[in-house]
Amino acid sequence: MHQFDLKNKTAIITGGAQGFGLDITKRFLNSGANAIIWDIDENELIKVSKEINNPNLSFNVVDVSNFKQVKDTVDEISKSSNIDILINNAGITGSTATLWDYDVDEWNKIVQINLMGTFNCCKSVVPYMIKNDYGRIVNVASVAGKDGNANASAYSSAKAGAIGLTKSLGKELANKNIAVNAVTPAGAKTRILDQMSKEHVARMLSKVPRCRFLEVEEFTSLICWLSSEENSFSTAAVFDISGGRSTY
Ligand SMILES: NC(=O)c1ccc[n+]([C@@H]2O[C@H](COP(=O)([O-])OP(=O)(O)OC[C@H]3O[C@@H](n4cnc5c(N)ncnc54)[C@H](O)[C@@H]3O)[C@@H](O)[C@H]2O)c1
Repeated sequence: MHQFDLKNKTAIITGGAQGFGLDITKRFLNSGANAIIWDIDENELIKVSKEINNPNLSFNVVDVSNFKQVKDTVDEISKSSNIDILINNAGITGSTATLWDYDVDEWNKIVQINLMGTFNCCKSVVPYMIKNDYGRIVNVASVAGKDGNANASAYSSAKAGAIGLTKSLGKELANKNIAVNAVTPAGAKTRILDQMSKEHVARMLSKVPRCRFLEVEEFTSLICWLSSEENSFSTAAVFDISGGRSTY
């Protein structure tokens, strides 16, 4: 697999214990980066750290929806290292239901993790990136945030919010060497699919002109370029990786 030049860069990858985040972590390490994975799943963090067994990998148990936890962890990391790359990848879809049937607490939780989590991490990390005049931020949104998926109003709204956040923050930082972009993947076979009904997943797939799921490695390639120094111009942008589903 093609490598990117991420030597001497330190990256935080949220939701890095599995799925997209784990694959990104492996590729970052292979490309010379120091990777710090954040997740709420401590057992999985311990397991994958043992498996990967790389001195350039470390982890923190962090709930991205908890601003204080996020800020304290960022402040601690910043005492000994720059934070060059932030991948806001932690997310949940929640269950599948119409808006009027949706449980209010679950709706809130989905927004707290997918949207507020992205806000919390950006708010905590950006001041350090400004100080270092360098940063690459990638916010993992979803094609649901562009198109709106029926029976996934909380998830679609939160991901649309993450897209809006990316556009605002990218513009706020555009006069610095800090890029902020979002990506909008279509469905990939990770554990997140288990949260939704089989019918919902089949409906998602039926909308993809490529007629297949996105492979995690295909997704990681896009993330790597957006996270590299080579991406010196694109910012406040939304990069589509939906196999032709959304053409804007
Ligand atoms: N797989 C897909 O089909 C798909 C499609 C579009 C977008 N996405 C997005 O990609 C991202 C990664 O999803 P995935 O498919 O790898 O899912 P996944 O379930 O395999 O991994 C998500 C990880 O996030 C962690 N996480 C959940 N809540 C957290 C919190 N509050 N704080 C910290 N970590 C938390 C989980 O423990 C898990 O390890 C998500 O933002 C998701 O919305 C996924």
